[in-house]
Amino acid sequence: MSLTAKDIFERATIIPVMTVDDVERAVEVGANLYEQGFEVLEVTLRTPLAIKAIEEMRRRLPQALVGAGTVLNEEQLQQVVAAGAQFAISPGATPALLQAGKTCGIPLIPGVATVSEAMVGIEHGYSEFKLFPAEAVGGVKLLKSIAAPLPGISFCPTGGINEANYKDYLALPNVSCVGGSWIIA
Ligand code: 3PG
Repeated sequence: MSLTAKDIFERATIIPVMTVDDVERAVEVGANLYEQGFEVLEVTLRTPLAIKAIEEMRRRLPQALVGAGTVLNEEQLQQVVAAGAQFAISPGATPALLQAGKTCGIPLIPGVATVSEAMVGIEHGYSEFKLFPAEAVGGVKLLKSIAAPLPGISFCPTGGINEANYKDYLALPNVSCVGGSWIIA
């Protein structure tokens, strides 16, 4: 059976967000993170080498779950699927991206920042979301407030998460994991 967004959320506690300028270095950092227990790794599409890094990490770190972040549209989604990404994460969502995520063959974790955005995602059949940018849009307070009106939904808050606040997020019942670049710095 193919991997679901729920599987990704269950296998992650903290998802390191990697922005790659050097493919060899990315494989090295990915290997170190995996050895430290970070099984799920996200490579953002913010640099030209991101796709190559995803390909190499998939080839050389077969036990890790390597996904693509900052996937903004259907074309990028197809590119990361072709590169072997095992999941895709987006900072937001459009109806076209939500639609494409249903048939692309890998789980898409769409980004939301409001209840209405989550409702659009739910209408498209999604139940796992990235909350982005988590700290800026209300963070722990927001997640607590939306738990009752949006039951059965899980979040991976990302954006402004750090050593000092990540445990507050993980303590929430509607948070499965958190993402962030702080873990790599
Ligand atoms: C992301 O792409 O998910 C965020 O930029 C990561 O946010 P952070 O750098 O604040 O951890």
